[in-house]
Amino acid sequence: MTHFLHVGQVSANDLIEIIALAAAPIEALGRPLAGRGVALIFEKPSNRTRQSTEMAVVQLGGHPVYTRGEEIGFDTREPVEDVTRIMAGYHALLAARVFDHSIVERMAAVSAVPVLNMLSDRGHPLQAVADVITMHDHLGALADRVVAYVGDYNNVARSLAEAAVLLGMHVRLGCPEGHDATTAELSRIDALGAGTICQSSDPGHAVSGAQVVHTDTWTSMGQEREKAERVEVFGRYQVNEALLSYAADNAVFMHCMPAYRGLEVSAGVMDGPRSLAIQQGHNRMPAARGVLAFQLGVRV
Ligand code: CP
Ligand code: NVA
Repeated sequence: MTHFLHVGQVSANDLIEIIALAAAPIEALGRPLAGRGVALIFEKPSNRTRQSTEMAVVQLGGHPVYTRGEEIGFDTREPVEDVTRIMAGYHALLAARVFDHSIVERMAAVSAVPVLNMLSDRGHPLQAVADVITMHDHLGALADRVVAYVGDYNNVARSLAEAAVLLGMHVRLGCPEGHDATTAELSRIDALGAGTICQSSDPGHAVSGAQVVHTDTWTSMGQEREKAERVEVFGRYQVNEALLSYAADNAVFMHCMPAYRGLEVSAGVMDGPRSLAIQQGHNRMPAARGVLAFQLGVRV
């Protein structure tokens, strides 16, 4: 059973296989979902993840069943385990976007079919696959390239760091104290692959010499009540033209979106010529196709 709950659980070779599956012509993947369903459960809102994953299921010959979290009521209407065991009888794969990562872990523990994490508080693996595909499209081979992530050390940052280190990149985090990675977390990620990771609370230092500068919202879904306080703490971590001037010449900007112009990114950078954000969003569909195919046992 190939669950995909976080990037750090796969080997570098598996990640390379997922990327190859994402790049393969759709016809080469052989419609592994023909006549089968995939449950897409969302406890939180989504644009990119829902649209791209639904379409990836269709491209693999299957039928996506979108389900809102409140409809099935994990642990309120019935236990996660009951929902999972029942749904696994209808579907070839169960995908879920959840607040608490332990929900997808509990699903995986009892599911008779593969489980996919479509974002939890711990990680956003589908986003990370699209991110490395986007960096590869732009830079070619990723080994020894430098990617900086500036802002909140959150689900997107963690999955990006895991994928980048697996592929031999050097990750530089620029995060304020209290919203940064612990020393244990840095060691865990550093040990994942050929790449390296380090962290600074100085955003200029973090982006210095980086070929890619990545950020995400300062206030993730579920943290809305902390927004004012976060805007205060993260103020000097905005990715703008001044911060990008410390990065390598021709450095590019990435953002998983939704983007909040004037907060974590200036409008000029987000909508400027260095921004890969739209291409990155579009890469979510082949990324989802590659991940689903991998979980279903397709290999190229
Ligand atoms: N980047 C991302 O996951 O976007 P959505 O929340 O719109 O799916
Ligand atoms: N960190 C953000 C990512 C949104 C795609 C969140 O969890 O809300």
